Amino acid sequence: MPAVLQLVFTLVALVALLPVVHAHAIVTPALGVNGTAARSDVQRPSTKAPCGNVNITQELPLSAAIPVFANGTFFANITNFNGGKDGSRQVTAILDPTATGSNFTVNVTVTQNGDLVPTTVGSQELALQLPAGQTCNGGPSSNLCLLSLKSAGGFGNCVVLSQTTASSKTCGAKKEGESSETQRRELQADPRAAGTRAALAFRTILRRRSVV
Ligand SMILES: *[C@@H]1O[C@H](CO)[C@@H](O)[C@H](O)[C@H]1NC(C)=O
Ligand SMILES: *[C@@H]1O[C@H](CO)[C@@H](O)[C@H](O)[C@H]1NC(C)=O
Ligand SMILES: *[C@@H]1O[C@H](CO)[C@@H](O)[C@H](O)[C@H]1NC(C)=O
Ligand SMILES: *[C@@H]1O[C@H](CO)[C@@H](O)[C@H](O)[C@H]1NC(C)=O
Ligand SMILES: *[C@@H]1O[C@H](CO)[C@@H](O)[C@H](O)[C@H]1NC(C)=O
Ligand SMILES: *[C@@H]1O[C@H](CO)[C@@H](O)[C@H](O)[C@H]1NC(C)=O
Repeated sequence: MPAVLQLVFTLVALVALLPVVHAHAIVTPALGVNGTAARSDVQRPSTKAPCGNVNITQELPLSAAIPVFANGTFFANITNFNGGKDGSRQVTAILDPTATGSNFTVNVTVTQNGDLVPTTVGSQELALQLPAGQTCNGGPSSNLCLLSLKSAGGFGNCVVLSQTTASSKTCGAKKEGESSETQRRELQADPRAAGTRAALAFRTILRRRSVV
């Protein structure tokens, strides 16, 4: 009998694990992910670990940052690896303006969200809005925030936000005294900048998947 019970417990434990195996969505560019995000990069953000199992101190300076426009709007990309509620592309977001991972205190509005129960796998664009006057004060240049995004399926990850002069103050216009090289780098850092390879690839993917 104990052996049978043990088997039952094992089966129950395995069934409990099934959604973990099948349910995944990630917001990119993701903290701690180099290149194309994979299913294995997906985290389970929690109150205790809003960025999941990522070494924030180590990965923050290495991760691609999402530029924030002067009006507080920014965009990201969510990709799910399976359909259904478990692979939900609908998220909520909470901000750490110190980018330390210890100060997730500000709710961020998602103005354009993904599908709650997607029927397919693929990518969607998210639009988010910082509260008026919100500043990012973390990182080496005191201009980074961390944002933790959690899907309705319980998955997600952190992304890095940056308030650069190019993206948040003048939307890419060359500033007085700024070298063309600096401006080029700032625009390149913006994956949405028109004409960049990332932007073209993004549009192609959206077209192929008939998202737009
Ligand atoms: C990303 O790449 C950098 C070097 O290019 C490396 O130091 C870092 O550990 C990588 N991060 C991840 C999560 O693989
Ligand atoms: C995170 O990375 C830093 C720098 O590489 C290292 O000093 C620290 O021990 C790491 N923390 C954990 C929990 O691994
Ligand atoms: C903020 O500015 C960006 C860039 O011009 C624009 O795409 C976005 O729609 C604006 N957001 C709002 C809420 O007006
Ligand atoms: C969190 O933010 C508060 C207020 O900005 C600051 O005093 C505190 O040092 C921050 N904590 C960490 C761990 O950065
Ligand atoms: C953030 O949103 C959650 C859920 O809606 C709410 O419980 C919490 O009070 C909000 N926090 C702040 C600081 O507004
Ligand atoms: C959106 O996600 C897809 C799939 O991972 C990726 O190929 C594409 O480059 C991403 N676009 C942006 C703008 O990050």
